[in-house]
Amino acid sequence: MHLYGTQAVNEKGHLTIGGVDTTELAATYGTPQFVYDLALFRERARGFVDTFEKAGVKAQVAYASKAFSSVAIYQVAAQEGLSVDVVSGGELYTVLKAGFPSAKIHFHGNNKSLEELHQAFDSKIGCIVIDNFYEIEQLKELATVKQQKMDVLIRVTPGVEAHTHDFITTGQADSKFGFDLSNGQADEAFQQLYQHDFLQLKGMHCHIGSQIFETEAFSLAAQKVVAKMAEWEKTTGFKATVLNLGGGFGIRYTEEDAPLEPAVYVDDMIQAVKKEAAAHEVALPEIWIEPGRSLVGDAGTTLYTIGSSKVVPDVRNYIAIDGGMSDNIRPALYDAKYEGVLANKMKEKADTVYTIAGKLCESGDKIIEDLTLPKAEAHDLLATFCTGAYGYAMASNYNRMPRPAVVFVENGQHQLVVKRETMEDLVKLDLPFTLGE
Ligand SMILES: Cc1ncc(COP(=O)(O)O)c(C=O)c1O
Repeated sequence: MHLYGTQAVNEKGHLTIGGVDTTELAATYGTPQFVYDLALFRERARGFVDTFEKAGVKAQVAYASKAFSSVAIYQVAAQEGLSVDVVSGGELYTVLKAGFPSAKIHFHGNNKSLEELHQAFDSKIGCIVIDNFYEIEQLKELATVKQQKMDVLIRVTPGVEAHTHDFITTGQADSKFGFDLSNGQADEAFQQLYQHDFLQLKGMHCHIGSQIFETEAFSLAAQKVVAKMAEWEKTTGFKATVLNLGGGFGIRYTEEDAPLEPAVYVDDMIQAVKKEAAAHEVALPEIWIEPGRSLVGDAGTTLYTIGSSKVVPDVRNYIAIDGGMSDNIRPALYDAKYEGVLANKMKEKADTVYTIAGKLCESGDKIIEDLTLPKAEAHDLLATFCTGAYGYAMASNYNRMPRPAVVFVENGQHQLVVKRETMEDLVKLDLPFTLGE
């Protein structure tokens, strides 16, 4: 059994996280419940930040908050000296509500609305990552009308796509995001931006994928982007000062995943960028990165209560939980794999194979298939590991399920940071039918 961060087993045979008994958390806040191990979040954040610092390289480590956005997580991110990347007006509103320093907020998105761009200017965020020509037009107009400066990066697709252990390089990337580096689009965007009075072009951004377990793909992307920066500098004298290499650092969901330490990703990235900058005789840019999953993924655990069970003779043992695809869509969406344990029976022998069924009205609502557990009964507490990224963030009210509670634990203490939705919350936007009255 692989445990993460501060997870341990106490004398009662219960799973603890951050020194807190998970059965106590379940009794206090109910289930389903997301529990975040803050020590693990901080350890990861420091792994990225300290490595840049030790190398003496100017950097920003921006938490890609699409992975899990809430007021409290932004406040912890601020404590760790992180920047934050947001992808919508909603995330921007939440991070501002958290009192996060606006100069350290970066705004992404392939279809930012005019309203969202106003919000970005009015709150004086640090940087907008420009995705397309329509956005350039909108931003130019807005900045001119407002007579307000804004730092911008050009998002490019470098033709390197990475996922787990594989990556491919393509001449032209088929992506809905960004300007293609090889077909002239990125050059055109640069021409439209680099001399603008209010939009202050700082450099380029690329994001090459998710769950990446090696560093070569980042190095290759860095090579391509730095080469383009150097080309622009030679032809126009424009000096890029920022290279943002995105997120995608892998985590361990199951034994098949072998992630690297943050320091390894960062060290190799620094070497690659230094080498390219030297080869092209340009100054070393600041290196920005955007880890999401690797900050919050394995720091998050979901607690569920087991209810019904069903045996399909000679085929499968189902046990059903009080949540499912409404709090974790990833298994149904892309066959994501998870591990789990019976949190109240950690010392009992695991000898029975179960499929964990959600309670939503979809046959595909299964959280884990073929999980070996001790004999499970109604009221047992199931903990599924590594649910901190794209779990709560993608939660829905499908079947009118209330979204779960979110709790932070650290040093033997626990705190509710997102309340469980109530039945009243579920109908608060509904209006009675009155047409024809
Ligand atoms: C632009 C950008 N940056 C960062 C991330 C975060 O990726 P991850 O959570 O895999 O680190 C994403 C994820 O989709 C992204 O699109």
